Amino acid sequence: MVVKGGVPLRGEVTVSGSKNAAVAILPAALLANGPCVIENVPRILDVKIIMDILNKLGATSEWIGENTVRIDSHKINTHIASYETISRLRASYYFIGALLGKIGMAEVSHPGGCNLGSRPIDQHLKGFAALGVNIKEEQGLVKANGLNMVGANIYFDVVSVGATINLMIAAVRAKGTTVLENCAREPHVVDLANFLNSMGANVKGAGTDVIRIKGVAELNQGTTYTVIPDQIEAGTYIIASIATSGDVKVKNIIPRHQEALLAKLTEMGVGLEEGEDWVRVFYKGPLVRAKVKTLPYPGFPTDLQPQISVLLSMAEGTSTVSESIWDSRFQYVDELKRMGSEISVEGKTSTIQGHKKFFGASVRCPDLRAGAALVIAALAAEGTTELYDIKYIDRGYEDFESKLRQLGASITREEYTE
Ligand code: EPU
Repeated sequence: MVVKGGVPLRGEVTVSGSKNAAVAILPAALLANGPCVIENVPRILDVKIIMDILNKLGATSEWIGENTVRIDSHKINTHIASYETISRLRASYYFIGALLGKIGMAEVSHPGGCNLGSRPIDQHLKGFAALGVNIKEEQGLVKANGLNMVGANIYFDVVSVGATINLMIAAVRAKGTTVLENCAREPHVVDLANFLNSMGANVKGAGTDVIRIKGVAELNQGTTYTVIPDQIEAGTYIIASIATSGDVKVKNIIPRHQEALLAKLTEMGVGLEEGEDWVRVFYKGPLVRAKVKTLPYPGFPTDLQPQISVLLSMAEGTSTVSESIWDSRFQYVDELKRMGSEISVEGKTSTIQGHKKFFGASVRCPDLRAGAALVIAALAAEGTTELYDIKYIDRGYEDFESKLRQLGASITREEYTE
């Protein structure tokens, strides 16, 4: 990706459907007894991988509109999801919950770690075991037998989006009531619960830290459901607008989901205007230093930590950022330093010297959100930046370059072979 920086972003941008909701809802559609039509699905690589896995399991998943996917699970013919597909995407662990719910058995390759550091699934497995699922971990596989799942009380030791979602999906088909405690409260957890309920499930309390699920013997024939807007995509455009001293209206969002970010930006001196489903952000003068600590929702999202760090590099004064979710979320720092920032990292906290100007350089994207942060720095920079490994960006942002171009950015993609 080649970005010529220095152009203030101006205009309007429409946010796509939520990646993290879509990658949970699509596997969960396996539970239905008939076709599900899912609208507002982002056309991103992670969704494509989930659809490939669905098709390999014998279900049919296809695009029937620009952002509409139809999933029909009635021809599903295996409970085994192979390494070659599963290893391409962490969220593929949702197939454990979905296959248990659909056919009571799942054999799914262990998703392993990733470039955010160690990513255990012990809370998922502990939850399944509490439902009476017999779990074996053998040769990199998670083999789960849950033909007689029974509801249980499950207390998560850590707040985990993945474990909350996975257990909700499986518990829909367990006998009796399951109570999940210390749950993640992210918008996509609520979206999945709404989707499951639209198929005839009985899930209550999503969005709080206690979720109650009454198991049902059968789900409906199918449903039509619209995925919520992507909280992190919206936040990325909001931050990019300010980093370029721009003025942008970010549309098709749920402003409530942006509260932690918008509160922090107000503290930093950013201009804001809010409507029912949009927010306008504009630069109104020098940015002020801030302290950021990432936390589970409704705290400041870890998935916007790299992006806001770019902004803090441009603010006046010294800022600090504490990362409390992932071990390796500061890998972008060395790349950002090549573009002019001065950041030191000690353990899970970074100290950012402000008042820095970015300049163009050649950089590599270490992961999805780090990639987005580097693009923001490139848009704010003087000169041209070349970004490599942009495949990560394709995992989570629909039409990233064209949306940015529409706001006036000079951004192109060129063929490159190592
Ligand atoms: N954890 C455990 N044991 C578990 C599960 C999680 O110790 O069994 C720990 C993790 O190591 C981490 C913390 O709990 O320290 C939170 O992990 P969580 O399970 O909440 O993360 P996740 O479900 O794997 C989702 C998003 C991530 C996002 C995190 C935190 C999806 C597909 N992914 O991951 O999104 O960073 O929640 O909000 O929903 C991204 O979109 O770029 C991304 C990485």
